[in-house]
Amino acid sequence: MRLYRLPKAERIEDLTLVEAEPPRPARGQALVRMRAAALNYRDLMVATGRYGRGAGVKPGLVPLSDGAGEVVAVGPEVTRVKPGDRVAGIFMPGWIGGAITEAAAATGLGGGAVDGVLAEQVLFDAEGLVHLPEHLSFEEGATLPCAAVTAWNALFGGPRPLQPGESVLTLGTGGVSIFAIQFARAAGARAIATSAHDDKLARAKALGAADGVNYARQPEWETAALALTGGRGVDHVIEVGGAGTLPRSVRAARLGGQIHQIGAALAAGDGRIDPTPLMRRNLTLRGIYVGSREMFEAMNRAIALHALRPVIDRVFPFEAAPDAYRHLAGQTHLGKVVIRIG
Ligand SMILES: NC(=O)c1ccc[n+]([C@@H]2O[C@H](COP(=O)([O-])OP(=O)(O)OC[C@H]3O[C@@H](n4cnc5c(N)ncnc54)[C@H](OP(=O)(O)O)[C@@H]3O)[C@@H](O)[C@H]2O)c1
Repeated sequence: MRLYRLPKAERIEDLTLVEAEPPRPARGQALVRMRAAALNYRDLMVATGRYGRGAGVKPGLVPLSDGAGEVVAVGPEVTRVKPGDRVAGIFMPGWIGGAITEAAAATGLGGGAVDGVLAEQVLFDAEGLVHLPEHLSFEEGATLPCAAVTAWNALFGGPRPLQPGESVLTLGTGGVSIFAIQFARAAGARAIATSAHDDKLARAKALGAADGVNYARQPEWETAALALTGGRGVDHVIEVGGAGTLPRSVRAARLGGQIHQIGAALAAGDGRIDPTPLMRRNLTLRGIYVGSREMFEAMNRAIALHALRPVIDRVFPFEAAPDAYRHLAGQTHLGKVVIRIG
């Protein structure tokens, strides 16, 4: 079987396709024949040496956190899945439910020291698998583990989940933000999309966003968000930008609103956070790191109920995986970039 490794992680061109012995499942493990994998912005950071707490990623890492396929064999004592099941791996196999722990946070696939899923066959801890919603293809299912679960956790995983009639401001039209628009719409909430491109805003509206703001033409997009909410501000911000966008997100939020801090890499800033408006405006700034298996399963029930379909921008063949990375890096996409396997 074939898989990709990153002998070093400095450039997309470091991705190397290699042959390996097919793995065998041990106790508690399931062997999955991968049918699709999906890219996240994190994977660009991994491949170009911008990821990992100080130590970066291990030499020879198998990249990507997100993939789906069918179970072909299970080891002893596996009851959660059986051969033939259509499954996706969860982002952190160590985070099943409850609050995140240090140990769970260290299990993220395709980063740090943990191999990921850009391979024809992958061994998973069976507890780290979820069944795909029946109406989804493998390619659609592969988009769920990181971006979709992150958007779900932001909107529904916290102490004050999104309510019908509330408003959700999304930044850009990448993987996380498009899922947030779809979930907000399904929950009876109002999504306000932002993008640097009018054509992407039109597509975001077709997917359920009520309004669109072009942040390239209107750099003070928070003013537009305030105007669209009658001066009140939005209930939730899906903050995928970082230090460069956070001050505007703070101004866009209503008194008592919630800012879900998801990204730190897209919009550079001086890194300073002014606590005064957070305090005066009673805001909640909530850090998000993907989500647990419990959240993934709750999300899948909602996806099945509403027959939601992930938005796939483009699918690349396995042999052209580096082109998929380059496409994501170009940032012309809307939604998800997928690699077909097999
Ligand atoms: N904490 C977590 O658990 C978690 C999970 C997933 C993602 N993330 C982070 O969230 C961010 C988005 O991830 P993703 O995978 O959805 O990325 P993505 O698919 O690559 O989408 C990025 C989109 O963001 C928009 N954008 C780029 N620069 C921007 C800026 N300066 N201000 C506002 N919008 C900007 C662009 O949309 P337009 O072209 O429409 O303008 C771009 O297409 C990344 O930083 C990623 O690392 C974190």
